[in-house]
Amino acid sequence: MKIHPLVKEVLITTEEINQKCFELGQKISHYYLNEHPTQYNTILCLGLLKGCIPFMAKLITQLVGVECETEYMIVSSYFGGVKSNETPQILFDLPMLITNRDILLVEDIIDSGKTIKMIKYYLYIKGARSVKVVTLLDKKSGRKVDLVTDWYGFDVPPDFLIGFGLDYQERLRNLPYIAIIDQDKIKNWKWTTKR
Ligand code: IMP
Ligand code: MG
Repeated sequence: MKIHPLVKEVLITTEEINQKCFELGQKISHYYLNEHPTQYNTILCLGLLKGCIPFMAKLITQLVGVECETEYMIVSSYFGGVKSNETPQILFDLPMLITNRDILLVEDIIDSGKTIKMIKYYLYIKGARSVKVVTLLDKKSGRKVDLVTDWYGFDVPPDFLIGFGLDYQERLRNLPYIAIIDQDKIKNWKWTTKR
């Protein structure tokens, strides 16, 4: 496989992601079927755009015995750069009522935890019955607020990561693996550079 030139190190391969999505699908389905039955046996998978797309696409195909609706919100905190902005902002809100709904929030990565903490609070205010959180990646060392994920795929180091939904300047979300970005190379990087 051709590795992107901005990659310093591949941390998680496509195969590892696939296997993890299968395992998470099993655990989450089991939870909603046996421990937290939902109205009409249906959950609302709420993806945070844009990073959730590859993970959510794979995860929902691994749910078994549980029906799911899908919706999305856009909450911005990084604005395409590499540093977390202080206050997350809702740029695209839910288009429907969520009163009494059981919501599964789907994230690509949790770093400071501010985004998810704010959205969880917001969803409860809007009348959600329950809000659970699944994230593919958990950067626990970056946590600035008290937030525990309900399910996560992989613990990751504090480096800036790219691929499988994670962007650098809105690009590289399409890489089929998770990688550490090469900080030296991005200093002089031009997107027109060909290799
Ligand atoms: P938090 O509010 O600090 O937890 O922000 C989480 C959001 O920041 C994620 O949904 C990502 O969009 C973004 N983010 C955090 N770490 C990284 C990273 O290493 N690469 C790309 N985006 C990241
Ligand atoms: Mg995100």
